[in-house]
Amino acid sequence: MSYMKCSRKEKTSHSRLELGYESPHKASRLSFVPERVGDMVTVFIRFGILVCLVASISFALHSAFAKPDRWFPLPEHIHTVQNNTSVIDSGPTNISHILFGIGGSANTWHERSNYSKLWWNPNTTRGFVWLDKKPEILQADMLVPYQISQGWKRFKYVHSASAVRIARIVYESFKLGLPNVRWFVMGDDDTVFFTKNLVNVLGKYNHNQMYYIGGSSESVEQDVMHSYDMAFGGGGIAISYALAAHLAKMMDGCLSRYFYFYGSDQRVWACVNEIGVPLTREGGFHQLDIRGNPYGFLAAHPLVPLVSLHHLDQLNSLFPNQTQIHSLEKLISAYDIDPARIVQQCFCYDHKRRWSISISWGYTIQIYPLLLTAVDLQMPLQTFKTWRSWEDGPFTFNTRPMSSDPCQKPAMFFLDEFKEVGKTGSITIYKRHEGEGGKCTRTDINNVEVERIRVSALKLDPEYWNNVLRRHCCQLLGGGSINNGSMHIRIRKCRPQETITI
Ligand SMILES: *[C@@H]1O[C@H](CO)[C@@H](O)[C@H](O)[C@H]1NC(C)=O
Ligand SMILES: *[C@@H]1O[C@H](CO)[C@@H](O)[C@H](O)[C@H]1NC(C)=O
Ligand SMILES: *[C@@H]1O[C@H](CO)[C@@H](O)[C@H](O)[C@H]1NC(C)=O
Ligand SMILES: *[C@@H]1O[C@H](CO)[C@@H](O)[C@H](O)[C@H]1NC(C)=O
Ligand SMILES: *[C@@H]1O[C@H](CO)[C@@H](O)[C@H](O)[C@H]1NC(C)=O
Ligand SMILES: *[C@@H]1O[C@H](CO)[C@@H](O)[C@H](O)[C@H]1NC(C)=O
Ligand SMILES: *[C@@H]1O[C@H](CO)[C@@H](O)[C@H](O)[C@H]1NC(C)=O
Repeated sequence: MSYMKCSRKEKTSHSRLELGYESPHKASRLSFVPERVGDMVTVFIRFGILVCLVASISFALHSAFAKPDRWFPLPEHIHTVQNNTSVIDSGPTNISHILFGIGGSANTWHERSNYSKLWWNPNTTRGFVWLDKKPEILQADMLVPYQISQGWKRFKYVHSASAVRIARIVYESFKLGLPNVRWFVMGDDDTVFFTKNLVNVLGKYNHNQMYYIGGSSESVEQDVMHSYDMAFGGGGIAISYALAAHLAKMMDGCLSRYFYFYGSDQRVWACVNEIGVPLTREGGFHQLDIRGNPYGFLAAHPLVPLVSLHHLDQLNSLFPNQTQIHSLEKLISAYDIDPARIVQQCFCYDHKRRWSISISWGYTIQIYPLLLTAVDLQMPLQTFKTWRSWEDGPFTFNTRPMSSDPCQKPAMFFLDEFKEVGKTGSITIYKRHEGEGGKCTRTDINNVEVERIRVSALKLDPEYWNNVLRRHCCQLLGGGSINNGSMHIRIRKCRPQETITI
């Protein structure tokens, strides 16, 4: 009977036929069911498969087009990991929802605290610098409150005890049980955060889901040695409340297992891996594992909001002839006017003079006395070396060499003045910097005889980053005229059909 049934089904369904022949003995259990009931079962199974198919297709479609924070919106009462206070609060993420944890040490904090002063607003920024012991020097102008790390000395280690201590910052920050914390953001004492952009970036994600957010090293050698999937600590590591809650339960055991690891960020990565959470990359977190002059990198920043800069102590000053702190003050003053636009690049041409113009808003402008394609202009000039070996690469992005030929080299301009225009716009003025190297003497080249460039722009709506991205365009004003060494450029949205073509 069982065999007969199978052969009859052969006409209708291949898969069930195979099932029947594979294990006739198991199938025989079904075969005692009267014929008609068996057919009904078949119909049910088919219907079930169809429902599953439709459901999984619609889920896949939904997932592909929905924002991550809309996946499985949890009813309020299921937020079990979250403390009561946070559950009630479902408004948009703001700076008060972030708890910063800065890895510091008592001996160096008095020097390094100068970096935190650049970005820490004592009225709104929450968090602590975590020190190994009470600092001997405590200046009144140290804005960041400190905590002394506890319980880290009992852990075994191979390279450094402070790596364990700093890895535990997320755990110790969580244990403070402060209300309304959605994100734990760890950084080094020489990390500068651009908090408005950080808030916007984190606001895309649901803190009640487990997220581990950050960026890799720019030097491939560092990613090979540590990991490509790790958030490098100096660039900043953002951990959602849900992940921090999970980490807090297992971190001490985990730290004991990875005692042989080198850094604190590697330990956090190892523990996050045990939970099974991957790295969510955000391109604005900059470890800056490079040596020399970061100029080329910041003059051609990728099309993402600037979130952090690190290793500024180890790099040339961003602005020539100025200290690094002074350089950053300048950059941050422009950022304060138009946070979403800081170091955003756009380019245009002066076709008449055959010049290419590249603007990194709030930082620098380059004018090349030749026509370069958009592909070249968006690629950073390699003004720096790799972190460990001081080599010319590889980096995790493409670079092009800086020419020493004065007929190929760009004229460089750096931010000099800036002002807000009304509530919605800005004017930034960039002043010529004479680098080394002589003048181009070729007669077929129009030398760049410009001293100052005035750039007008509308403020960039932070919502810009939540849409499909397109670089902005620029255009010369006044027909490209140069008055008293001064040129005027406007940054604007590109027109639908516009291209940046030589
Ligand atoms: C959480 O809420 C419950 C009742 O809703 C309350 O009894 C409890 O004390 C709250 N816990 C905290 C930590 O606020
Ligand atoms: C952040 O949002 C919360 C509500 O979600 C609000 O109570 C708080 O005042 C906001 N903080 C800032 C600095 O905007
Ligand atoms: C930090 O900044 C203060 C002024 O704000 C300056 O006097 C001091 O020398 C700086 N310290 C270091 C180590 O750069
Ligand atoms: C902090 O708040 C005080 C008082 O409201 C204000 O005077 C000060 O300018 C604020 N500081 C910053 C850095 O915003
Ligand atoms: C909730 O907050 C309290 C302190 O207010 C803290 O002791 C507790 O660990 C927190 N629990 C969770 C699950 O976050
Ligand atoms: C920068 O310093 C160099 C020498 O250190 C000097 O020749 C040059 O004029 C200075 N540039 C500016 C813009 O101050
Ligand atoms: C020309 O520019 C210089 C320096 O930027 C300025 O001092 C001078 O006043 C300008 N002259 C005119 C006529 O605008």
